[in-house]
Amino acid sequence: MIIHPLPPPREPTGLGRLPLARWFLFIGAVAGTAFAAGAVTTMMMIADTQALSPRPEVDAQVARLNGALTVLFAVLLACGVGLAFIVRYAVLKPIRQLTEQVRTVAAGDFDHALHVDRPAELAELSSHVDAMRDRIVSAWRTASDQAEELRRSNGELEQFAYVASHDLQEPLRKVASFTQMLEQRYGPQLDDRARQYIHYAVDGAKRMQLLINDLLDFSRVGRVTGARTTVDSGAALDQALDNLSATIEDTGATVTRGELPAIHGNRVQLTQLFQNLVENAVKFRSEEPPRVHVEARREGEMWEFSCADNGIGVEPKYADRIFLIFQRLHARDVYPGTGIGLALCRKIVEFHGGQLWLDDTGEGRGATFRWTLPPAGGADE
Ligand SMILES: Nc1ncnc2c1ncn2[C@@H]1O[C@H](COP(=O)(O)OP(=O)(O)OP(=O)(O)O)[C@@H](O)[C@H]1O
Ligand SMILES: [Mg+2]
Repeated sequence: MIIHPLPPPREPTGLGRLPLARWFLFIGAVAGTAFAAGAVTTMMMIADTQALSPRPEVDAQVARLNGALTVLFAVLLACGVGLAFIVRYAVLKPIRQLTEQVRTVAAGDFDHALHVDRPAELAELSSHVDAMRDRIVSAWRTASDQAEELRRSNGELEQFAYVASHDLQEPLRKVASFTQMLEQRYGPQLDDRARQYIHYAVDGAKRMQLLINDLLDFSRVGRVTGARTTVDSGAALDQALDNLSATIEDTGATVTRGELPAIHGNRVQLTQLFQNLVENAVKFRSEEPPRVHVEARREGEMWEFSCADNGIGVEPKYADRIFLIFQRLHARDVYPGTGIGLALCRKIVEFHGGQLWLDDTGEGRGATFRWTLPPAGGADE
């Protein structure tokens, strides 16, 4: 279980700064002094009255008053002392106990039970807080167990994808090259149909090679190219555009950009991300020459990037499907590709702690993709 250090408690302000015990002491001292002063003054007045040798009936009344006041003062004194004990043992002490227990839990010992027996109100409060602690802790444990299980099975899947795609390459290369050799050596003796079959076989093997390479790239994200530093996202875009320069020139595409920030990430992956998105924006163009605009704006703790184009756009109902691996909306002979680009982009963005989505709120033609990335200045920089 990961335990984060406790933030310092929030400081109370105003009169509430003084602890309850001090308030009781202060009020008790004022009341005690007033009580003593009142008792002494009354006794002195009675003594003065008696010193005046009043008539016997008045003297008897004063003596009775003296007796009644003495009893009253004794009762008040007893009540005061009783109240002080009650406050001390039935309020302040249980509050202190509960505070210590809560502090222990807050410091990370989440199995520490909270319980005080008295007074009734605090006992009820402590049992509710304890039930809450118990439920939160068990929900948290279930969630962290599931997250752990998910991490493990993800790791296994990635490992599997890597091993499978890596080991499949060799036999596939054999199939492709021997089929090609078959065609070269025995081509003249074969009829047209046989040559066509060989062509299909070679084409299939080549496509499978492409798929396997894409799968390998996909399984590598976060496993091989993982280190994160401060990356100038503008420079990553430059690199991506450089890699795409031939396509951009052929199609007459214009790529513009706003100010792009430095982020905390992996340069190779960010270049891949820009490259896939700009490549899509150019590939899925309409009749007009492609125009692509990349920009970023600060949204809370993250930078939100966008890549907008004037191409054929994506129907909102496919907004989720296009991010699945090998899922495409068009035939391969219309728009080439294997369908890994967006799945890879999403994996890269999620590896950086962000999110990638198709913005289907925009009006007009074209597609806009948005994604978030953490700003530079992360923990390990
Ligand atoms: N900018 C875009 N405009 C219109 N459709 C898009 C755009 N980007 C992606 N798509 C749709 O989403 C699908 C998935 O995109 P993705 O990049 O994963 O695959 P791809 O480009 O077809 O193949 P690959 O990226 O592997 O070469 C595409 O086939 C296309 O239908
Ligand atoms: Mg693509």
